Amino acid sequence: MIGVLTLAILVFELLTIHRIMADQFNEEELKRIIQVEQDDTKKYNENFTVKDETNGNIEIQELIPTDSSGNEVASIAEQISTLKQTVLEKYAGASKKTLIFLKAYQTKVISNVNDIHYYVSVYQQKDRGFEQLEFSELTHQLVFADTLQPFEISKLFNNDLAVSNFFVKKALDESKVDGLSDNLTEKITSQFKDNNWKKLDTSIIQNGIRIKYKDGNDSDAEWTIPFTELFAYMNENMIPETEKENYTTYLATVKEKLSKKRIALSFDDGPRPETTPRVLEILKKYNAHATFYIVGSHVEGNESIIKQIVAEGHELGNHSYSHPLLPKKSADEVYKEVHSTSDLIAKASGGLRPMSLRPPYGGFDKMVAEQAGIAIVNWSIDSLDWKYRDAAKTIEHIKENAHNGGILLMHDIHEESVEALPSIIEYLQAEGYELVTVDELMAGQPLKPNHAYFNRVDIQKID
Ligand code: NI
Repeated sequence: MIGVLTLAILVFELLTIHRIMADQFNEEELKRIIQVEQDDTKKYNENFTVKDETNGNIEIQELIPTDSSGNEVASIAEQISTLKQTVLEKYAGASKKTLIFLKAYQTKVISNVNDIHYYVSVYQQKDRGFEQLEFSELTHQLVFADTLQPFEISKLFNNDLAVSNFFVKKALDESKVDGLSDNLTEKITSQFKDNNWKKLDTSIIQNGIRIKYKDGNDSDAEWTIPFTELFAYMNENMIPETEKENYTTYLATVKEKLSKKRIALSFDDGPRPETTPRVLEILKKYNAHATFYIVGSHVEGNESIIKQIVAEGHELGNHSYSHPLLPKKSADEVYKEVHSTSDLIAKASGGLRPMSLRPPYGGFDKMVAEQAGIAIVNWSIDSLDWKYRDAAKTIEHIKENAHNGGILLMHDIHEESVEALPSIIEYLQAEGYELVTVDELMAGQPLKPNHAYFNRVDIQKID
């Protein structure tokens, strides 16, 4: 009997010792895991704080990056708090001890900009020790490296409108290649137009940006766009060290383009269904490009012409809604004249907004420039086609005035202008001029608001 009792006691004690040892083992394993996670966090964050919370079987540690003074940053705390709720919901009611770490990997992406990648790391108790259940990235956030305040992707750029148009154009081109319907194309372009691109999830990667959007079927899609395609719109101080060589090459290319023998063709007052398509046909035949300064009240019913203008490589400009002498109008009226026209053009073109205003009669002042919010583009070569209404005279006049870097004013609403066009183009091309859009004349550099462009070099600040 005694033997049995002794054995029972012995077994009981052995079990107790085993349990204590197991607890100790778990305690040490737990400490070790916490140490590993904190050391790992230290590698990617100069400063961070630790918040610990226990909830039933769940222990959650938030390893939160802080600014250089060790202070919490509201936007980061908010982000972590949202992530914490999601993770807690996922592991709620865990029957075994569960350790959750919310942590951040902070990496430098460009000068003074960091990307914080938020990760969750989860461990759960097993027979012996803990097992890692999950380790995954939840989201990321661009911040200024010093203050950790949110960094908006738009800070990379100096011209939001040009960036909007760049993305819309890319979406239009890709949709065309994919043979998408107008409806599906519109679903894609609407995510980029009118500064909507600023709301998309964008990362800065090694040599460019990655921007996430939804394709026509609402599935996840993304673009990887190299910086080399974005240099024209980027703030110089945002260009990464590693891209300096590419940027120098880009600047050399711009300089080279600006020295080419070019004239920008521009057509005002259309579109007009009787004449504009014929102008387009002629331009296509001669491989010439032009900027069309559209009158807002002429957009309705001519949407397909506007789409064709874009599809054939030409540029859309704004020529006001009702063609008044703008400085005679009130500021509100000018605003409406210009913006309603840009809205109509954007609607017809699939989201492209004009980068420049050609004020009717060339009339502008500071008020007009301010209300327009886009560059003013006038001309240096007036074809006087509207005055002569005579092809031979128009050609003669252009011959006398043509010059390198010039902007040639014509009208795509007069029969005589259409008739004169082939001879004008033949003459200019024979003289060695490449016929381009205003945008191409300026080598793709976005035109600046509050500036008036008369030709490639005569650019006046309006004040
Ligand atoms: Ni006009």
